[in-house]
Formats: sequence, C-alpha cells, structure tokens
Amino acid sequence: MYDSGKIIIGLLLFFGLIASPIWYNLASGKGSYKPDIKIVTTEKQCVAPTPYMRTSHMDLVYSWRDLVVRENHRSYNSFTGRQYDMSLTGTCLNCHSNKTEFCDKCHSFVGEAPFCWDCHVVPKEGN
Ligand code: HEC
Ligand code: HEC
Ligand code: HEC
Repeated sequence: MYDSGKIIIGLLLFFGLIASPIWYNLASGKGSYKPDIKIVTTEKQCVAPTPYMRTSHMDLVYSWRDLVVRENHRSYNSFTGRQYDMSLTGTCLNCHSNKTEFCDKCHSFVGEAPFCWDCHVVPKEGN
C-alpha cells in the first residue's frame, strides 16, 4: 500500500465533489431559505397541529371537500375539541385572511398554483 497517501487524497476529493451541492448550500445560506409567510390571525392554533398543517394541509382540505360534498358532513372536530365548519373560504381563509401573503407566497415558492379559487371565493383581504 505504498500509494495509500494518493488514494486517500483521491477519496477526499471524490467525496468533496459529491457533497459539493451541500457545501454550496451551506456557504450560500440557500439550504435554509424558506418563504417568508405572514400569519396575521390573533388565534394561537390552527385546526390541526402546525407540523401536520405544514406538510399535510392539502390532504386535510381534500378530505374536508369529500366529507362535505359526498357525505354532507360539515363539522370538523379538531384535536383541541373545538368544532370547525369544514369550509375553505369560511374557515381557512377566515383565520388566514391574508391569502396572498400566506397561501400564495408559499405556493409560488414551491411552484404550486391550486385551482380552487376558480370557484371558491377569496374574501377581501385585510391586514
Ligand atoms: C382558528 C384559526 C385558524 C384556522 C381556522 C386555520 N388556521 Fe392555519 N394556522 C393558524 C395559526 C394560528 C397558525 C400558526 C400556528 C403556530 O404558529 O404554531 C396556522 C398555521 C398554518 C400552517 C403552517 C404555516 C407554517 O408556519 O408553516 C398552514 C399551512 C395552515 N395554517 C393552513 C391552514 C388551512 C389550509 C386551513 C383550513 C383547513 C387553516 N390553516 C385553518 C390559524 C388557523
Ligand atoms: C408553509 C407553506 C404553505 C402554506 C403556508 C400553504 N401551503 Fe398549500 N401547499 C404547500 C405545498 C408545499 C404544497 C404542494 C404539496 C405537494 O405538491 O405535494 C401545497 C399544496 C396545496 C394544495 C393542493 C394543490 C394541488 O394541486 O393538489 C392546496 C389545496 C393547498 N395547498 C391549500 C392551501 C391553502 C388554502 C393555504 C392557505 C390557507 C395554504 N395551502 C398555505 C405549502 C403551503
Ligand atoms: C369547479 C368548481 C370548483 C373547484 C375548482 C373547486 N371546488 Fe371545492 N367545491 C365546489 C362546490 C360546488 C362545493 C360545494 C359547496 C357546498 O356544498 O357548500 C365545494 C366544496 C368544497 C369544500 C367544502 C365546503 C366549503 O365551503 O369549502 C372544500 C373544503 C373544497 N370544496 C375544497 C376545494 C379545494 C381544496 C379545491 C382546489 C384543490 C377545490 N375545492 C376546487 C366547487 C369547486
């Protein structure tokens, strides 16, 4: 193993290159960039725990739609025991009244444009 020094340098270069997108993100601070969303409601809690809402609100709104449209069931019993009307406009946008600075900001960051608002009313926005 008289060439082990060269092999080690080679390996270090190899792994350095493989991981370079990680180094780049760390150095540029890009890896931790998040859309700067504003939550304007005076309420403390969402209809489900925040980590769940962050990753799975789409599943929740789709299940609300199915329950309302297919089963005519309109009341949602939240994890805190509070009852909510399962409504996109009347409930989600009642608390998150700043759709542009909240829903839209996050969606344009990930390149999503939910078509829901073709039919569902967006209330006039306040701050
Ligand atoms: C009762 C008021 C209220 C209602 C109704 C409500 N939210 Fe929220 N929502 C909040 C609050 C307050 C937070 C922030 C909670 C926190 O900081 O932990 C939040 C957080 C969120 C987040 C996570 C944001 C982040 O920080 O990443 C998403 C996504 C979200 N809500 C979507 C929705 C959707 C979709 C609906 C309808 C199904 C909805 N919310 C209904 C009050 C509400
Ligand atoms: C913290 C960021 C964030 C916030 C805030 C947020 N969303 Fe989303 N939303 C996402 C992401 C990311 C996706 C795409 C998920 C995927 O493609 O799997 C998404 C997808 C959706 C979808 C599904 C779209 C489709 O084409 O299937 C709906 C509906 C939706 N969001 C509604 C809302 C509503 C209503 C609000 C505001 C009350 C909101 N979201 C706020 C991040 C967010
Ligand atoms: C082509 C028109 C149309 C589009 C697009 C549409 N919806 Fe709906 N949605 C309706 C109608 C009609 C109802 C029934 C209203 C009722 O019975 O109160 C409804 C009901 C709902 C409900 C329950 C009642 C309420 O007031 O919110 C939810 C939740 C819902 N839709 C979610 C969504 C989501 C999420 C999207 C986008 C991914 C979406 N809808 C796109 C027409 C539409």
